Amino acid sequence: CLMPQNRLHVFQYSFVSVRQIDKYLYSMRFSDETLKDIMNRFRREVENGLSRDTNPTATVKMLPTFVRSIPDGSEKGDFIALDLGGSNFRILRVKVTQDKKQPVQMESQVYETPDDIIHGSGTQLFAHVADCLGDFMEKQKIKDKKLPVGFTFSFPCAQSKLDEAVLLTWTKKFKASGVEGMDVVKLLNKAIKKRGDYEADIMAVVNDTVGTMMTCGFDDQRCEVGIIIGTGTNACYMEELRHIDLVEGDEGRMCINTEWGAFGDDGSLEDIRTEFDREIDRGSINPGKQLFEKMASGMYMGELVRLILVKMAKEGLLFEGRITPELLTKGKIETKHVSAIEKTKEGLKKCMEILTRLGVEPSDEDCLAVQHVCTIVSFRSANLIASTLGAILTRLKDNKGVARLRTTVGIDGSLYKMHPQYARRLHKTVRRLVPDSDVRFLLSESGSAKGAAMVTAVAYRLIEQSRQ
Ligand code: GLC
Repeated sequence: CLMPQNRLHVFQYSFVSVRQIDKYLYSMRFSDETLKDIMNRFRREVENGLSRDTNPTATVKMLPTFVRSIPDGSEKGDFIALDLGGSNFRILRVKVTQDKKQPVQMESQVYETPDDIIHGSGTQLFAHVADCLGDFMEKQKIKDKKLPVGFTFSFPCAQSKLDEAVLLTWTKKFKASGVEGMDVVKLLNKAIKKRGDYEADIMAVVNDTVGTMMTCGFDDQRCEVGIIIGTGTNACYMEELRHIDLVEGDEGRMCINTEWGAFGDDGSLEDIRTEFDREIDRGSINPGKQLFEKMASGMYMGELVRLILVKMAKEGLLFEGRITPELLTKGKIETKHVSAIEKTKEGLKKCMEILTRLGVEPSDEDCLAVQHVCTIVSFRSANLIASTLGAILTRLKDNKGVARLRTTVGIDGSLYKMHPQYARRLHKTVRRLVPDSDVRFLLSESGSAKGAAMVTAVAYRLIEQSRQ
């Protein structure tokens, strides 16, 4: 062969086709048969979580929320909403009126939650929340008022009433000490009291999925499911009270926070987890926990892509085998990069920029290949969530005893909102998996905190009524 060594090198390393990648990542691409299988597995998890005997050991916790209905339009008042646990810590003032044109007015402020606070002590974390609330009230000139507060706290909590929420375990990036097993309402009240310069009446704690369902329910009375596809992923839905063993009563419905992120923690998803999923889990702050979430949510998606690229580069399938310290650094590919790379028009250009920043000197073919890897990883996420959502929808359909389900799903979360193809793929797969349904997907424009204010408004109205 007359080809000089280095040319031969280039020749060997430079091209990996889309079909080769499909084959390489075969275990991340699911057939509809597999998706239906996952859907059935999740249905069983739902049943286990709901029934008295199996609940204590159930992986998917199916937590009662003590929210019994979506807003009915008669809510009104001036409320504060706290939103902790998503991409941002936000505080809002929500005014709900009977004004037809603009029933809800909101003003909000984002506060930083530095890593040392997220990972420090619980006392510090709640002191920080109380400080920010104090600052917000000062700015709003309402420090002398005792406004009702709704608290969106996006973690698994055991509730026995609306204004009590015992944190079961931290998830996502949070790990403040001394909070697990404690009632977060008490912790926050204590921190506010310690400051002593204002008062607050925390009336309701809601998960962000519940807040989302309530926010969307304000605009569409049919909304009975709320999902989040962001840093974490989770869903809630309205379940018949007679099926909820842990709560007394048989009449009507109650919203259940599924905590589906923990699906698979008992090993039930081992057959579909890949070496990359295991590596993500090993490097996380909560190994063995939230395994479904680690496969599907935004917090891990960029990192999944990075791990695949490292392996492919090591095997000479990408970048002519070049591996740089940047490529090897955890967190260097973020989910927002995956979203940018999958944009129809500028995706490849973005891909070139992102990979160039990692110093791997990508070729055009590399960019195409990396774009395809991103597609497989984000498609897998949409498929997984379509399966679990499909299970919830089938359950709703069975509960109602109808031949065709007509319902609305409220959705929020950075991945769902920012990724250019995600929503379309998710909707399509859900409709294929649950063909006998007409599902409306409603994006929650104003976030879950508005919903928390709604829940507070309802609680407030009920208390006011009982006082009269
Ligand atoms: C995590 C939390 C869950 C939350 C979700 C989305 O899964 O455990 O409570 O709803 O993230 O923020």
